[in-house]
Amino acid sequence: MSGHGEAQPMKSRKSGPLRGVAEVPGDKSISHRSLIFGAMAVGETRITGLLEGQDVLDTAAAMRAFGATVTRQGEGAWTVNGVGVGGFREPEDVIDCGNSGTGVRLIMGTMATTPISATFTGDASLRKRPMGRVTDPLSLFGARAYGRQGGRLPMTVVGAANPVPVRYALPVASAQVKSAVLLAGLNAPGETVVIEREPTRDHSERMLIGFGAQLSVEKTGEGHVITLTGQPELRPQTVAVPRDPSSAAFPVCAALIVEGSDILVPGVSQNLTRNGLYLTLVEMGAEIEFQNPREEGGEPVADLRVRFSGNMQGIEVPPERAPSMIDEYPVLSVVAAFSHGRTVMRGVKELRVKESDRIDAMARGLEACGVRIEEDEDTLIVHGMGPSGVPGGATCATHIDHRIAMSFLVCGLAAKAEVAVDDGSPIQTSFPVFLPLMNGLGASLTAG
Ligand code: S3P
Repeated sequence: MSGHGEAQPMKSRKSGPLRGVAEVPGDKSISHRSLIFGAMAVGETRITGLLEGQDVLDTAAAMRAFGATVTRQGEGAWTVNGVGVGGFREPEDVIDCGNSGTGVRLIMGTMATTPISATFTGDASLRKRPMGRVTDPLSLFGARAYGRQGGRLPMTVVGAANPVPVRYALPVASAQVKSAVLLAGLNAPGETVVIEREPTRDHSERMLIGFGAQLSVEKTGEGHVITLTGQPELRPQTVAVPRDPSSAAFPVCAALIVEGSDILVPGVSQNLTRNGLYLTLVEMGAEIEFQNPREEGGEPVADLRVRFSGNMQGIEVPPERAPSMIDEYPVLSVVAAFSHGRTVMRGVKELRVKESDRIDAMARGLEACGVRIEEDEDTLIVHGMGPSGVPGGATCATHIDHRIAMSFLVCGLAAKAEVAVDDGSPIQTSFPVFLPLMNGLGASLTAG
């Protein structure tokens, strides 16, 4: 099953050593936010390194529908002429966010405190995902939402005409919910407070400060208390989007499991709210050198030199690390299959409400590849088979999920027999150059 278009089968087979430099595209989270915050500023925001994946293009189209002028100037180079906080106009048509939970949830937050209505939809994956987690706090501002059973899209949000500020403790560790509340708080008078028990990616906080909002973060016994002063005038910015650590995960993990590999992945974020996978891989015995640490686009980054690591051991991944590597569990479970012993991933039930139920998708696909798996609602355990022990030889279902597709294609590069995926088209949402980039390193990936 594919999103809006035709399914595109892909396959991968055992590859020779991966060598060279893997320059992965711009960060998806920061790309969405640069368009949305740019639309909230008065004047021209200039963006370089924007991820031109379908998720982000859908957010660009949405910002145009709400009245901002969004222009592509060249590869990854975009300008946004914003309408100011509270300046969104009512869109003439339904807003289609495609596959993107980040897009739809952040945009719902942004319009929820402006007196306009908007109807949102998405592809078959997004239409299954819960929106109540954002519309519940948005209703505290005075917004109303009318969707399908279970808070599903399509959904109409009626923005509050007289919004009130909100104090909200996040019931789930979700940067999307946190960001939706902060974005709604931008157009509410007074102070909006969001409290998160476990820290999640902090790009919205960093970027809001950069765009001129008054925002403070205090660490207390309750967790991080984030206070935003409403109704600021946001100043346009120059945003250099850093590379995406969640995309970098795929060439990094491929190099770790393909014998003889030695690659360089430059500019990978070491932001503590995003780097959980890299800490975990090092604990498992991965040979990764963190070279040339520096700051790029307001984020701490390093160049990663990654070599084949034939002696990785499974570990218990600390559950409190989950928010900092939430999108990386699928590809970690592939590395775990090529390691020795058990890798235990607990506290991961959020994976069940991503682009697909990622625990189920990985468990079924890895089992089909001959790997022993245990799972429950909140846990995934992979029994490693060592660097040359994974049989492969299966076609795995990707369930309209880019990260599931890329994870199984990585698996096939080191498995004994070819691994196919039923539909690789969702890779377009986050990593449009995945195939040529991986094949440029020496991988054997084919479409069709
Ligand atoms: C994101 C937050 C995470 C992550 C998603 C991007 C963001 O989702 O899985 O890919 O940009 O805020 P949750 O907020 O649902 O954890």
